[in-house]
Amino acid sequence: CGIVGILGGEPAAGRLVDSLKRLEYRGYDSAGVATLIEGQIVRRRAAGKLRNLETALEQAPLEGVTGIGHTRWATHGAPTVNNAHPHQAGKVALVHNGIIENYLELREEISASGAILDTETDTEVVAHLINTGLADGLSPQDAVANVLPRLKGAFALAMMFAGQNDLLIGARKGSPLAVGHGTGEMYLGSDAIALSPFTDRITYLEEGDWVVMTRTSHQVFDKDNKPVSRPEAKSTVNAALMDKGNYKHFMAKEIHEQPEVLGHTLSQYVDYTQNKANVAGSEQLRFKDLSRLVITACGTAYLAGLVGKYWFEKYARLPVDIDIASEFRYRETPLSSADSALFISQSGETADTLASLRYCKSQGASIGAIVNVPESTIARESDVIFPTIAGPEVGVASTKAFTCQLAVLAALALQAGRERGTLTFEEEAKLVSELTELPTLTLKALSNEVEIQKLSQQLSKATNALYLGRNTSFPIALEGALKLKELSYIHAEGYAAGELKHGPIALIDENIPVVVIAPFDAIYEKTVSNMQEVAARGGRIILITDERGAAQCGTSPETVVVLPEMSDIVAPIVYALPVQMIAYHTAVFMGTDVDQPRNLAKSVTVE
Ligand code: G6P
Repeated sequence: CGIVGILGGEPAAGRLVDSLKRLEYRGYDSAGVATLIEGQIVRRRAAGKLRNLETALEQAPLEGVTGIGHTRWATHGAPTVNNAHPHQAGKVALVHNGIIENYLELREEISASGAILDTETDTEVVAHLINTGLADGLSPQDAVANVLPRLKGAFALAMMFAGQNDLLIGARKGSPLAVGHGTGEMYLGSDAIALSPFTDRITYLEEGDWVVMTRTSHQVFDKDNKPVSRPEAKSTVNAALMDKGNYKHFMAKEIHEQPEVLGHTLSQYVDYTQNKANVAGSEQLRFKDLSRLVITACGTAYLAGLVGKYWFEKYARLPVDIDIASEFRYRETPLSSADSALFISQSGETADTLASLRYCKSQGASIGAIVNVPESTIARESDVIFPTIAGPEVGVASTKAFTCQLAVLAALALQAGRERGTLTFEEEAKLVSELTELPTLTLKALSNEVEIQKLSQQLSKATNALYLGRNTSFPIALEGALKLKELSYIHAEGYAAGELKHGPIALIDENIPVVVIAPFDAIYEKTVSNMQEVAARGGRIILITDERGAAQCGTSPETVVVLPEMSDIVAPIVYALPVQMIAYHTAVFMGTDVDQPRNLAKSVTVE
């Protein structure tokens, strides 16, 4: 969820919405704002997209210069108007990101005291507890200080009080929150992006901190309620709202930006003049002495890490232990100060990835992160960051950030290979020069779009689909299936082609399209055998391969998408584009909301 708060000098509602537009990536199932009008809390809330809240505000404008706003990704309670934030109990209104894990127990206590809880959320209990403190005569600050230690789970809160036009209180535990400094104004936001329309002067709260703010002052307290001072930083987040250019969707624009952003990203990580990997800060990961590298991430970023595993193991002979963050964080993996861990996250805010990072840090491991948002929490808590230069990614389904993550991982694997002495100078030079082909090759891959559009029309009639690949094409098969299901809601599974016979082959009939990702590499023939097993059972095959692969695929594929021939190291990056385009065009045919698919959020800040 996204949070914003304003102690301003001009009407707050429009400004809150302006900030929420930038925060929609954190959730878009409902939204709301509250301001103080003559000391009274007044709210406007709406289910669905932010534009519904804008309509509500057009119909019933809201005055007031002090306010809070929220865009929600539902956890407890359906995305209805009533469950939308801000929540109010008597003299307090608040917005919340995270989960209050002991809310059931707190609900019982509140109900027993006679108060009426009228939402299904975990958040409302916090408002009630604070309001009880106020009713008992406590100041807002004391009421908040009493309640915070009672809340279990993760939260960021922005709180506003009736009759207190010059006061906002914020608190963070597990979910990020930042204070923005203006001239005679102060702001609260879940990140620098939230604050970007107002200011670039930012103070990040640390774990357990809470803050009492007026228009001209702010005091931060730590988890033990001791006053502390936190530094002010300058944010470089651009306040401009992204636009789609001539594209119908952000996702289409972002797919087409890949040749360019891959070029930008690579130029930061390889030295073209000497054909060497050149990753600044890689010494922090101590590749030379490592006995294994731990990689952790979620969603598409995890699949980038999975490709990275093949590369680190092949080029640097470095064993990789990779897991999805929601599993890793509770797995109690043995780690020590001799280990290095690498986290991959577009947003740099994903709760499970961040928790995994903190676990590794607590065990003494060195921490590196591949992030697209250099000011994010994951970036700030890492020993070294390797930024992707993908530019802001708006489409919820990650595209250009994914291929840029792959480019950084490839460079890191080659760097590790050199540092560990497993790649000769010539081998490294050859691989680096192959990587420099990426902008050209991805541009060529985009030229298949019309053909992909056609096959996607067919695919959009299916209810199930299977994606197969081997080696580094296996994670791309997983990515293809993930993209198809999240965008078009067609059920899809990605499988290692060799694993087909151990289960998914049972699904094959004439109704199931099977997308096979198979560049003509050393194991191409093995994949062709698996493809034939599908064809023998009537499955409809869409093969994505290159010219040599197309010449040797036999007659089993119904459709063949032909990419240029390319080296092994670039193949997973280039082959990501056709699978992205298939998901995109299938979703367009299905008429789904491509940039903001149902139930998803771009940045998931709850576990
Ligand atoms: C969400 C997004 C995915 C993304 C994943 C991890 O599920 O919808 O596209 O891959 O989070 O996000 P991160 O920001 O950590 O890369």
